[in-house]
Amino acid sequence: MTDKIAYTRHDDIAVLRIQNPPVNALGVAVRRGLADAVDRAEADAGVRAVLIVGDGRAFIAGADISEFGKPPMSPNLPDLCNRIEASPLVVVASMHGVSLGGGLEVAMAAHYRIAQPGSRVGLPEVHLGLLPGAGGTQRLPRLIGVENAIEVITTGRHIQAAEALELGIIDKIEEGDPETVGLAYTKSLLAKDAPRRPISEMPGPDPIDWDATYAAILKKGRGQISPATAVRAIQAASELEFSKGMTRERELFMELMKTDQRKGLIHAFFGERAVSNLPELKGVEPRPLQSIGVIGGGTMGAGIATAALLAGFKVVLIEMKKEAADAAQDRISGNLSGALKRGKITQTQFDALTTTALEVSVNYDSLSDVDLVVEAVFEDMSVKKQVFAKLDAICKPGAILATNTSYLDINEIAASTTRPKDVIGLHFFSPAHVMKLLEVVVADQTALDVTATGFALGKALGKTSVRAGVCDGFIGNRILATYRTAADHMVLDGASPYQIDKALTDFGFAMGPYAVADLAGLDIGWATRKRKAPERHPDERVPTYIDRLCEQGHFGQKTGQGYYIYEKGKRGGVPNPEITRLIEAEQQALGITPQSFTDAQIVRRYMCAMVNEGARVLEEGIAARPLDIDMTLLFGYGFPRYWGGPMKWADIQGLPQVLADIEEYACEDAWFWRPAPLLRDLIAKGQDFEHMNKEAAT
Ligand code: CAA
Repeated sequence: MTDKIAYTRHDDIAVLRIQNPPVNALGVAVRRGLADAVDRAEADAGVRAVLIVGDGRAFIAGADISEFGKPPMSPNLPDLCNRIEASPLVVVASMHGVSLGGGLEVAMAAHYRIAQPGSRVGLPEVHLGLLPGAGGTQRLPRLIGVENAIEVITTGRHIQAAEALELGIIDKIEEGDPETVGLAYTKSLLAKDAPRRPISEMPGPDPIDWDATYAAILKKGRGQISPATAVRAIQAASELEFSKGMTRERELFMELMKTDQRKGLIHAFFGERAVSNLPELKGVEPRPLQSIGVIGGGTMGAGIATAALLAGFKVVLIEMKKEAADAAQDRISGNLSGALKRGKITQTQFDALTTTALEVSVNYDSLSDVDLVVEAVFEDMSVKKQVFAKLDAICKPGAILATNTSYLDINEIAASTTRPKDVIGLHFFSPAHVMKLLEVVVADQTALDVTATGFALGKALGKTSVRAGVCDGFIGNRILATYRTAADHMVLDGASPYQIDKALTDFGFAMGPYAVADLAGLDIGWATRKRKAPERHPDERVPTYIDRLCEQGHFGQKTGQGYYIYEKGKRGGVPNPEITRLIEAEQQALGITPQSFTDAQIVRRYMCAMVNEGARVLEEGIAARPLDIDMTLLFGYGFPRYWGGPMKWADIQGLPQVLADIEEYACEDAWFWRPAPLLRDLIAKGQDFEHMNKEAAT
């Protein structure tokens, strides 16, 4: 038996305690240990029952994800589950914390399940690009019926103990030490001679319209295949006897294991955990944070204030004038009433958050005692400098002065204060109380504990925080500008914005770039083009047709017209014929003969532009690791999670192929498609971006 399982005897009950911190993942040593421990219990004279418990904070969080993609090691999890279930002893699982994936499958292999009130269960494998592969798709429908099983497995959601009891996933909830309550429950079962209760012997679930269900779930998955594939495995539970159903589940599981989506989703799982784990912040204490100042009560400022209030901070918001302050207060109340409606906060909390926790003021002096201020005023360097000079004069020593600028030079902003060490960028994404991404932008002089505090704030606000360096657009908007340009070039050359949007949503993006532009407001891009015009390289191709639309006062969704035409009360828009006319006129003026692009060609160019700029961002140290870029795109730009992020996508394609494509595009436009030297370096060394991630972790 391995040291991962502690075996103890309590009268006629053998207790198997899983000891594999932090979350008792079912690595090979745990699997071997459990199989050996069941053998031992069966051979242990007088033992009538086995109780399985987990040490530490969870029963079992599932299979060990880090083993996926490596050669399988015996015993595999399905065999272990069958072994446990087949035991002639009565097997009980006492669950606390989480029982997820293989963890719930082990529990379902037991004959009875008892759980702590605060515990959660679930089969989240679809989020890793897989399906429950240790009998979950065969046992759960037998236990709770086919409709419920489809819902639980295809959403992969976590289920609270009370609901799990109602659904029939667990048999009992009892508060106390899991081993103590588990032993009492097992004793009570033995006392009444409760029989073994193998789920595999229960009748298979009723048939449903499998093809329709498969199609509906596939559509809902927006290109993600694992939930729909899980439906086919559940179908096997209905149509085949248990052992054959297990074989079918295994086949489907192994099929998914080989997919790029599985690789992408597992990269995303580890990436979102690694992203805030910065080597330079090890052992650095963040500064204390209780109160947050926000300057500017527009959509962004009000969103930041809302996020801070919901996370329990005291908030002081500054506006210029009384009317603007009132409007900011209304915006925040509106945001919070959304949270109230969705049951995230109670009426009492709402009242407290909009009154005692929030102060809206027109006087900067109200910021004298806050721990951190985020400035969210107009994007203009001279305005920002004035704000920072005031903050420098008013804020207490040690207070952190943060700017929410999207592209301005934070070093220059910091230089306008006497405390550049306390200055940092905290780049939120709108709406700030909803969007998950926070770029923590570290300027040349930012102190380490200020960076650590930026990450601590991000965590408190429930954000995924990414470290970025100072440059125009930081990580996200800089890369966005490049792939948008690639799309703009394709439009000039003959692809329509509508084909591009469709090709990219089919690829898995939440929205295409032109629908996004309409949502963000076309005036933003217009202003940026004007701002950048003086320093523009003569070879740079910039479309001007869209400026004509802006000149007519059409800025996208907010004015009802942009790339699309929006009708009040209708979701989404329809293509704007004026755009097609304007593009044709520009093509004629430039002497361009439009060419056709396939959807695959569109995706390829768009992605190559993203990867190439990502590589430059890495070269310049704006992003420390490829995974930082991946998480930025995933959490802030609607990048399909199942591709793992652009740099993971590039690894999956193979960097030599990506470089070859870029070189091919460079034949048409050598200025835009200059391959990043890092790409060539990595290829020369036979490495990829994952290699860089690993190196950074050691
Ligand atoms: N395998 C390997 N490592 C795991 C793991 C798993 N199943 N689950 C968590 N971990 C690791 C995390 O990577 C993290 O490691 P670091 O500290 O080195 O970063 C550590 O355990 C703690 O995890 P979190 O930081 O996520 O802690 P948390 O308290 O916020 O969340 C959790 C805990 C809810 C268990 C969350 O980690 C989680 O959702 N884990 C994944 C659960 C899952 O998807 N299980 C299904 C696995 S697939 C399966 O079981 C297939 C099958 O059917 C055969």
